[in-house]
Amino acid sequence: MKAFEISAESKILVVGGGRMGAAIINGWLTKGIAAESIYLIDQNQSVLDGYQAQGVNTFSSVDQISVSESFSVFLLALKPQVILKRVGDFNRLINKDTCLISVAAGVTVNTLRSLMTNAKHIIRVMPNTPAMVGKGVLVGYAQEQESAFTNLVEGLFNSLGKFYWVTSEEHMHSVTAISGSGPAYVFYFAQCFIESAKALGLPDALAKDLALETLIGSSVLIDQSIDDVIKLRENVTSPNGTTQAGLEALMADDIFMEQLLDCCKAAKERSIQLS
Ligand SMILES: NC(=O)c1ccc[n+]([C@@H]2O[C@H](COP(=O)([O-])OP(=O)(O)OC[C@H]3O[C@@H](n4cnc5c(N)ncnc54)[C@H](OP(=O)(O)O)[C@@H]3O)[C@@H](O)[C@H]2O)c1
Repeated sequence: MKAFEISAESKILVVGGGRMGAAIINGWLTKGIAAESIYLIDQNQSVLDGYQAQGVNTFSSVDQISVSESFSVFLLALKPQVILKRVGDFNRLINKDTCLISVAAGVTVNTLRSLMTNAKHIIRVMPNTPAMVGKGVLVGYAQEQESAFTNLVEGLFNSLGKFYWVTSEEHMHSVTAISGSGPAYVFYFAQCFIESAKALGLPDALAKDLALETLIGSSVLIDQSIDDVIKLRENVTSPNGTTQAGLEALMADDIFMEQLLDCCKAAKERSIQLS
């Protein structure tokens, strides 16, 4: 099923085909957006090669794209630091009808407006890397005057996972700290869990499988159960049993909770610094 019907003459420009740009392009291709309608600029030939083979139009520099090209969507997927220094180079590829969608952490609509003076319509979306497998969480922010573009953005990003809107741009800092950066926290937890399984004496391969399958299975259970996470935890915690003994160590003095909160606050603070 096509999640988003883009007309034959519509073109999507993606600037930056790194981790996030790639996650989004791969999601679009999987969901049936025509490769020929996607134009990708990335300075790394190695990034471009894989997409070229799939029929995506690839360019290693903005100078290779003719001024006469007109794009309906401009997806900005460069690092915030690069955007602040270089994004003006891409201004000429934007016309009054182009919807500029930025996935950059921290960079505000007003900053983008000042850097990309041709952009009349700017929407921010904070995705995360599970979008690569259709399991992303994506959060959009659009100023009121951009309401004509919200369906377009939902159509593009619904196909990559669950899509939400926030009405305050300030919330994008917290969104970035939770769902944007969140997969890295989960991957770190997974790493610690695997190392713990090895430390208990299990062979490496089995340690990895048990830890990861437990994480995956528990996540699916969270998704499918009518119980909340507290009830689910209580359901597997028999009085004086093994789980209770483990949880007492994990939850002692709320240290884990406090460290996770510090982690989220630090990510939010960094997003604010980048803005
Ligand atoms: N990664 C995530 O999990 C995640 C989650 C949410 C949002 N985001 C946002 O997504 C954006 C991209 O992040 P990322 O992790 O995908 O970064 P990335 O992997 O570094 O991808 C950016 C790509 O753009 C290329 N590039 C840099 N300058 C260029 C230029 N002037 N012209 C053409 N290509 C250029 C980079 O090449 P080089 O490698 O040579 O620099 C790289 O291939 C960031 O703003 C980030 O905040 C990322």
